[in-house]
Amino acid sequence: MIAAATTPLASALGPSLAFDGISLTLGRTDILSGVSFNVAAGSVHALVGPNGGGKSSLVKTLLGQMPHRGKLSVSWPGDRPGVIGYIPQALEFDRGLPMTVNDFMAAMCQRKPAFLGLSRARSGEIGDALARVGMQDKRNRRMGALSGGERQRVLLAQGLVPGPSMVVLDEPMSALDEAGVRVFEELLDNWRAQRVTVLWIEHDLEAVGRLADRVTGLNRQVLCDGPPAQVLTPDRLLALFSTRPRVGSLPQERAA
Ligand SMILES: Nc1ncnc2c1ncn2[C@@H]1O[C@H](COP(=O)(O)OP(=O)(O)O)[C@@H](O)[C@H]1O
Ligand SMILES: [Mg+2]
Repeated sequence: MIAAATTPLASALGPSLAFDGISLTLGRTDILSGVSFNVAAGSVHALVGPNGGGKSSLVKTLLGQMPHRGKLSVSWPGDRPGVIGYIPQALEFDRGLPMTVNDFMAAMCQRKPAFLGLSRARSGEIGDALARVGMQDKRNRRMGALSGGERQRVLLAQGLVPGPSMVVLDEPMSALDEAGVRVFEELLDNWRAQRVTVLWIEHDLEAVGRLADRVTGLNRQVLCDGPPAQVLTPDRLLALFSTRPRVGSLPQERAA
């Protein structure tokens, strides 16, 4: 059967995703226009494109945080929805806030309110996650006292508890130092081995070429989609990064 032939050999932990004609308008601005592409279950799928091209908005749409038109399907293995880890682009908070790394992790990772204290099970998982990103010694530091790179490591760690079946990352490497980038690449290797579905917004095209299974180039609409070797060519990249489609300037809108 055709369906059986397309089933991956090792069963994926994560879902497949289908974005089908997703459009998003905020106020009078079209942020996304007819965005369609697929993410294979258990793959590492990168989203690239210029600033303001709608990448963050698209993943927020996936996470249910944006009103949109079109169809978005998430197909979980065995129809059992799993945990989604989300690592946001940046964390806005008051540096004076008396919140430690532990407090932050508890608030992000625990279903019950942070003020009830860490449950023992979660406390162990949180310790493990902080160890994986090399932040175990800084559990009692104030978040506001961390460097940008350290804060980004904590953001990565909160995406690991509870263990996710799908991970959505918004430019995780931008604030990381070299050692932090190595930590991130280890996490990515682990997710790949476990066949977690990874949707990864990234501006470092060298890293995307090396680490992604597939790449979608987005600038309000999908401008390219395929394996890195096909998408990350000089002419494709020039088209993706040098054009800035504005309202009414897309080919199909001119034709309409
Ligand atoms: N909440 C919002 N209200 C209005 N405009 C927004 C909002 N969020 C993002 N935008 C606009 O949507 C466009 C796409 O932004 P974004 O999704 O952050 O792009 P990217 O992540 O690719 O840099 C930008 O022009 C941005 O100014
Ligand atoms: Mg963004």
